[in-house]
Amino acid sequence: MLTDRFHRVHDYLRISLTDSCNLRCSYCMPDEHIKCMPHSSLMSAEEIEIMARIFVDHGVRKIRLTGGEPLVRKEAADIIERLSALPVELTITTNAVLADQFLDQFLSAGIRSLNVSLDTLHPETFFALTRRDNWHRIWRNLELMLEKGLRVKLNTVVMKGVNEQELPDFVALTRDLPIHSRFIEFMPFQGNQWEHDRVFPAAQMLALISQKFDFEKLQDAKNDTARKFQVYGHKGTFAIISTMSEPFCAGCNRMRLTADGKMKNCLFSRSEVDLLGALRKGEDIVPLIQYCLDLKEEALGGQLRADYDHIEADKLQNRSMIAIGG
Ligand code: 5AD
Ligand code: SF4
Repeated sequence: MLTDRFHRVHDYLRISLTDSCNLRCSYCMPDEHIKCMPHSSLMSAEEIEIMARIFVDHGVRKIRLTGGEPLVRKEAADIIERLSALPVELTITTNAVLADQFLDQFLSAGIRSLNVSLDTLHPETFFALTRRDNWHRIWRNLELMLEKGLRVKLNTVVMKGVNEQELPDFVALTRDLPIHSRFIEFMPFQGNQWEHDRVFPAAQMLALISQKFDFEKLQDAKNDTARKFQVYGHKGTFAIISTMSEPFCAGCNRMRLTADGKMKNCLFSRSEVDLLGALRKGEDIVPLIQYCLDLKEEALGGQLRADYDHIEADKLQNRSMIAIGG
């Protein structure tokens, strides 16, 4: 079992397959992120499988593939197939632009649940946010996923002045569609134009939604980062991920591998441990995994506090979101 100094058992690994993406969301991909990691510095499909097996041997029960956009990685299908042989819950976070090409493979790989990132229900706002005209394609793919019986969680990054007024519309979708709409507080990363007054905090989200809907609190699982709710009579649910205003680090069970094989013990960790370099030298990476966990801070990588008014995003010692992998 992989345990940190605070007795948190870590059984969930998020693996980034690439720092490339087919969208250009400003909050994730800074303007200077033009040059992607060279292919030779990425973990190969085989190296990903070897690393994942080591983590699974040490207690990992759930693996999520992330990016950038994981499905733009040339070897995505190969990687999914390799990981589907492991005794884990395998899942993926995608912007769904390419999802139609992968649906059958998701099913045969035993993927039952996906997270789809979508910040707006308006095609024009989508274009402004992502600089790509893909809203309708994503929506069609989302419907295909539901038709195939996949469980879909819809991730929406909420930014004040951009999309907070759409929250009730997302909740309205859950009336007839069995989707799980999740509202994520805007988080600061290098170069992502974060300002504290662009955060729309959880309490205000709930207040806005309660103007239109009567809902109940649902039971959350132990390591859940999302607090779940359901409007009476709706098929789907909605949830709030309050990283900024009410962090949930006490139950954290997550570890991350960047596409270039560096382990991060937290989304906001300063430190990274180079597992891929060690693996390529033929070294045992297990002591390095434990070393990385021993560095894990109690909350928010030791860099953020819940009174987030004074944070300066560009002073954080971290990668940009696209290079960490959601
Ligand atoms: N704040 C909050 N969420 C973010 N994501 C990417 N950047 C940010 C940010 N700055 C989300 C993506 C995706 C998930 C992996 O993280 O939209 O849904
Ligand atoms: Fe875990 Fe870090 Fe996220 Fe907190 S901020 S939940 S410690 S990954």
